[in-house]
Amino acid sequence: MKYAEIIKKMTIEEKAAFLSGKGEWQTREIDRLGIPSIFCSDGPHGVRKQAGTGDHLGLNESLPATCFPTAATVAGSWDTELGEAMGEALGEEAMALGVNVLLGPGLNIKRSPLCGRNFEYFSEDPYLSGKMAAAYVKGIQSKGVYACPKHFAVNSQELRRMAMNAVVDERTLREIYLTGFEIAVKEGHAKAIMSAYNEVNGTYANENKHLLKDILRDEWGFDGIVITDWGASNDHALGVAAGSNLEMPNPGLASARELIEAVSSGRISEKDVDERVDELLDAVMNLHNNALGKADTFDAKAHHEIARRASAESAVLLKNEDRILPLKKGAKVAIVGDFAFIPRYQGAGSSLVNPTKLETISGIVGDYDLQVVGMTPGYSRKGGDDEGLKKEALDIAVQADVVLYFFGLNEDSESEGLDRTHMRIPDNQIELLKELSEVNNNLVGVISAGSAIEMQWNTYFKAILHTYLSGQAGAGATLDILTGKVNPSGKLNETIPMNLQDTSCFGYYPAKERTSEYREGLYVGYRYYEKAGVPVLYPFGYGLSYTKFRYSDLEITETGISCTISNDGEVDGAEVVQLYVGLPNAAVFRPEKELKGFKKVFLKKGESKKVEILFDDKTFRYFNVKTNSWEVEEGDYEIKIGGSSADIRLTATCHRQGTTPLLPYSREKTESYYTGKVTNVSDAEFKELLGSEIPDGKWSGELSVNDAFCQMYYAKSGLARFAYKRLIAMRKRADESGKPDLNTLFIYNMPFRAVAKMTGGVVDMDMVRGIVKIVNGHFFSGISGVIGGYFRNRRLNREYEKKLKA
Ligand code: BGC
Repeated sequence: MKYAEIIKKMTIEEKAAFLSGKGEWQTREIDRLGIPSIFCSDGPHGVRKQAGTGDHLGLNESLPATCFPTAATVAGSWDTELGEAMGEALGEEAMALGVNVLLGPGLNIKRSPLCGRNFEYFSEDPYLSGKMAAAYVKGIQSKGVYACPKHFAVNSQELRRMAMNAVVDERTLREIYLTGFEIAVKEGHAKAIMSAYNEVNGTYANENKHLLKDILRDEWGFDGIVITDWGASNDHALGVAAGSNLEMPNPGLASARELIEAVSSGRISEKDVDERVDELLDAVMNLHNNALGKADTFDAKAHHEIARRASAESAVLLKNEDRILPLKKGAKVAIVGDFAFIPRYQGAGSSLVNPTKLETISGIVGDYDLQVVGMTPGYSRKGGDDEGLKKEALDIAVQADVVLYFFGLNEDSESEGLDRTHMRIPDNQIELLKELSEVNNNLVGVISAGSAIEMQWNTYFKAILHTYLSGQAGAGATLDILTGKVNPSGKLNETIPMNLQDTSCFGYYPAKERTSEYREGLYVGYRYYEKAGVPVLYPFGYGLSYTKFRYSDLEITETGISCTISNDGEVDGAEVVQLYVGLPNAAVFRPEKELKGFKKVFLKKGESKKVEILFDDKTFRYFNVKTNSWEVEEGDYEIKIGGSSADIRLTATCHRQGTTPLLPYSREKTESYYTGKVTNVSDAEFKELLGSEIPDGKWSGELSVNDAFCQMYYAKSGLARFAYKRLIAMRKRADESGKPDLNTLFIYNMPFRAVAKMTGGVVDMDMVRGIVKIVNGHFFSGISGVIGGYFRNRRLNREYEKKLKA
């Protein structure tokens, strides 16, 4: 152990207390031994350092920092060099604001377009997610700050996110839900990881030895610290034994006491505690030293420019008929849409950034060579009809050559703590669109939304630019693209399906019971649509440019491919060259093809460049559940190169030797996975895929400390059912307000045990058990547990404090 000398001097009370947080964001210092405290902050697309009262829900304001586009946006750039530049800027700001660990990036897989946090995640594809995450991590960590990729793992649903058991087979776990993290750790060298709220196959992610030890530390060689998501710890002792270092945010000393008890009863060993302390000490000491003498300012102007570049490179041009874009110089335009005045440039929740500056379309359109005939919000963000606004919009639309229509998902549609129930944008925005199309044919749509939406209305537009959530400099980036100053080069990091019913997990998502069954297996996003032959609106990897690219001269060697890309159009531009690999007639079921490499190339008009993409350890592998390791199936692999998953320009084959004769599946028993028709997987097939019984996720009627507050409709106690009704009323009020109420959503999805984990030691687990007894209808034994627990907890906390001060 690196810090054996210090650890020898620490009392068990100090060690145990050191392994959980102090307050919302900090670790505990131990002055006597010269151990400093470190500061953690969200987040993934901008630093959210709270100077005043801390919360993890984006409620209280934070210090100004650059609000970069969210991950869902930046992954549209497919540009790892950009990701690293953004990471560097994030790292610099973190350092300047006194933040040692930046809680991001988030790289959960977009299993369903409905997940409320998709705006914070990179992609439906693990390879793209991993590469982008590794780039952020490298950039952030190059400035002496630790990045903390999250939420490890299989956290793809917000509903009851802290009380959900993700039931997923080992192969899907490895290939879809872990590969991104693997890349962030192995290539990005992430020094921290955040364990997710949920259980994975019956064990909380934070207590999951398979995830935290076997895979993360032993297989991937992770040598950093595991931090729990805020309130994600269930049994701290089991967490520590499994490899988790820091319980956050502020369980008070109750968790520390549990840890000591677990050591004295032999449930876990002191060696486990010492190892976690050693790892955490390494982080704390390094981070503290890294920060010594560092600047406390950053170049806000330069970072604004990086945010603008990120936004410009990431927006995806979905449609451009009659080459309506770029707009002609001096074109007469009408600006319609509330988003042009009040941009939706970031999501809601823990990632909320207080921007250093905010551009709006209405505020800066005057800087461009356009003749603006008028500007109006056109519709109300609150929904419903507004005849006055509509009339204004139609009046200016008639006078314009082109109508620029700014629309998308409102603030309350997507948020941490909430999954969407549909993929539509508000009706009133579409109503107005239809009316606009009757007075002007030249409609250009600019969408703001953090995740995939249904777009049956795309026919009304001549051009559509999807800007996702484009950060504080998004307006300038958008106008740069519309006017041709920037040639769009973003490509979709997710498929836009025709409609929600077409998604592979439609019947399974979000799970309403205790378990979330990942029955669709590997078939997420394009992996599903291609295999099952389901048509989509815009395929994965798709995005238009103002120029044309030609692909030629594919060469393939043992180590990779090369080809030539030529810019045959009239303007400079960038192309994302994508490499997919498939194995026709595979013996082990698999998607038609999978993304295994990509490169973004910038080409002057008329220029050609040779592009090389190397194969890596992931190119041909699949996870074999029989040998319990990565294997290669023998066969002639198809190597497909193109500008999107549906636009393959060059193909070649290459042979690979097999690595094992052991085949993991019987085709008769897993037929759906061979055809890809996975929307109705039978129990028998899912059981076969899992290799074990499907856990019973139904409620028995009795609630436990791990059930969420929103399950109180099962409560036997009238008091609890009354509390439940109040909660529902609060939720309804919040839903109607037009802005997500994170506090209510958090409580709604929170399990009882989290009360003990997030109240700074005022409530301990004995008291929580008392509360649950009351909920289950045992009022008297419950209330005496709560009262007795309160006094016992107070006394024990005081005694502990004394020992720490001694
Ligand atoms: C979120 C994390 C975040 C943490 C701290 C949690 O609710 O899930 O992503 O980092 O709060 O704000």
